[in-house]
Amino acid sequence: MDLGLKGRTAFVLGASSGLGEAIAETLAREGANVILAARNSDALEATVARLQPQSDGNLTAMPVDLADAASVDRAIIALKADHQVDIVVLNGGGPKPGPMAQLETDDLVSLVRPMVESPIRIATALLAGMRERKWGRILTLLSSGVVQPIPNLGLSNTLRLSLVGWMKTLSAEVAGDGVTVNGLIPGRIHTARVDQLDLAAAKRTGKTPQQVAAASLATIPAGRYGDPQEFADAAAFLCSSKAGYITGTSLRVDGGLVRSL
Ligand SMILES: NC(=O)c1ccc[n+]([C@@H]2O[C@H](COP(=O)([O-])OP(=O)(O)OC[C@H]3O[C@@H](n4cnc5c(N)ncnc54)[C@H](OP(=O)(O)O)[C@@H]3O)[C@@H](O)[C@H]2O)c1
Repeated sequence: MDLGLKGRTAFVLGASSGLGEAIAETLAREGANVILAARNSDALEATVARLQPQSDGNLTAMPVDLADAASVDRAIIALKADHQVDIVVLNGGGPKPGPMAQLETDDLVSLVRPMVESPIRIATALLAGMRERKWGRILTLLSSGVVQPIPNLGLSNTLRLSLVGWMKTLSAEVAGDGVTVNGLIPGRIHTARVDQLDLAAAKRTGKTPQQVAAASLATIPAGRYGDPQEFADAAAFLCSSKAGYITGTSLRVDGGLVRSL
């Protein structure tokens, strides 16, 4: 299936590792121009060098720190000056685990900028061009915690739900201009972040990381963690011209993890 991504320009956040890197790679292989963003510029440059030979599109690294308003401002200025962005993939780091009952509200406040404000600011800044050109895709990486709160990940459950409210509201405002706004819900996709969470759970409970992973796998009907490529394929479809009538929704890529309808 031709996804119609050739010649489109995508800005992918969190592209230095894990899910964001897999999405950037998939869009690049489909012929899109991809601007890869995260904090670690060496990792971004290495990914660009690895992917460029596989892509007909132009790949660029753009260092940005979502926790730093000035860095986000610089990125927005550069994006508007040098690129015509059609697709934005909102993604970044996940918060540390911990019980809600012992929440430090300073942690909550300091995470609002990287997890909520900066992604929304970037999408809003790029939206005007998409609406003018009558084509755009805004895709937000969420978590299964937005449909079934994950124990011990209360910061993620709390902050990501505000992105769902933003997305759904925005989607209705811009659908008539050919801009779709959707979310992708990873269950447990095998990246470094998942290994780190399993390690933290092992330390907390006195189990081995293998025991923690086995217990986690037992909750997934598919019986395995997802592969980042499986997640990236779903992302590429939602970013494609084939998904023009899908908006205001969130797709679960979770091997059946979430049991609710
Ligand atoms: N993997 C899963 O199954 C799963 C499940 C539920 C939710 N999620 C969430 O989905 C997101 C991606 O997951 P992942 O597994 O790919 O995690 P990951 O491998 O840790 O990737 C996170 C990405 O975000 C970037 N990042 C972190 N802090 C940033 C900041 N302040 N500014 C800009 N970029 C920043 C990181 O790069 P730099 O360090 O270079 O900045 C990296 O590229 C995370 O928020 C995670 O919590 C993942």
